[in-house]
Amino acid sequence: MLSETIRKSAEETARILKNLRGPLSLAFSYQAEDTAALHLVLQSGAGDLEVFTLDTLKLFPEIPSYHRDLEAFFGVHIRTYRPDSGEVSALEEKIGEWGMRASLENRRLCCRIRKLNPLEKILAGKGAWITGLRAAQSPTRMATPVLEYDEKFGLIKINPLAAWEDEDLAEYIAQYGLPQNPLYAQGFTSIGCTPCTRPVGEGEDIRAGRWWWENPEHKECGLHTKERRQA
Ligand code: ADX
Ligand code: SF4
Repeated sequence: MLSETIRKSAEETARILKNLRGPLSLAFSYQAEDTAALHLVLQSGAGDLEVFTLDTLKLFPEIPSYHRDLEAFFGVHIRTYRPDSGEVSALEEKIGEWGMRASLENRRLCCRIRKLNPLEKILAGKGAWITGLRAAQSPTRMATPVLEYDEKFGLIKINPLAAWEDEDLAEYIAQYGLPQNPLYAQGFTSIGCTPCTRPVGEGEDIRAGRWWWENPEHKECGLHTKERRQA
């Protein structure tokens, strides 16, 4: 039996999707949340849906094989977008291969070039985008609603899992046998790029392994923050 929270969010998401116009984009980052959001959205019968991932060129080596498993399981194509090669070369010349850890400015610049700039292009002309964000993930996400207007990218943003606790997510994954990123079995609890993600220890916060050298209030790559430009 799925929890009341899950049932309510599934109903709310289906209602929102039914009333939307224009193509939809679901942002997939190979995390547990994305498998649940994708499954829930597919169940609701959403029409013009693109599932995409931003390959920063810094992802873990486990990802390509997991990507293939996911496509086979869900029967959908997950489109991969990569950053502009000229921008990446200029970035690497400026900060070096590991320079993203040297300063907040470097880190934000790297996230801008590898994630934000491609995302801006992907979302142009779309009716709405869908994410796996949850309010329970961190204090910076506490106010996440299911439906919002994303001023930064100028379109509707839907976060079907906004109200889900960790237990809801685990329950949903178990119920539908959704394939999970093999990195979870190695102690990772939140998964991003190789240089900026580490496994967490017993009792640590689920996002403690992301940008672990930074203050908690900075631990966002900019995809989900309100400011228009961070770097
Ligand atoms: S981040 O801002 O710290 O990187 P997080 O990893 O928690 O975000 O992911 C939150 C949601 O943002 C994901 O569920 C997914 O919808 C989207 N997202 C994050 N990274 C990517 C990515 N590389 N490609 C596509 N979507 C992403
Ligand atoms: Fe660069 Fe790290 Fe941001 Fe990935 S998470 S884009 S490697 S700074």
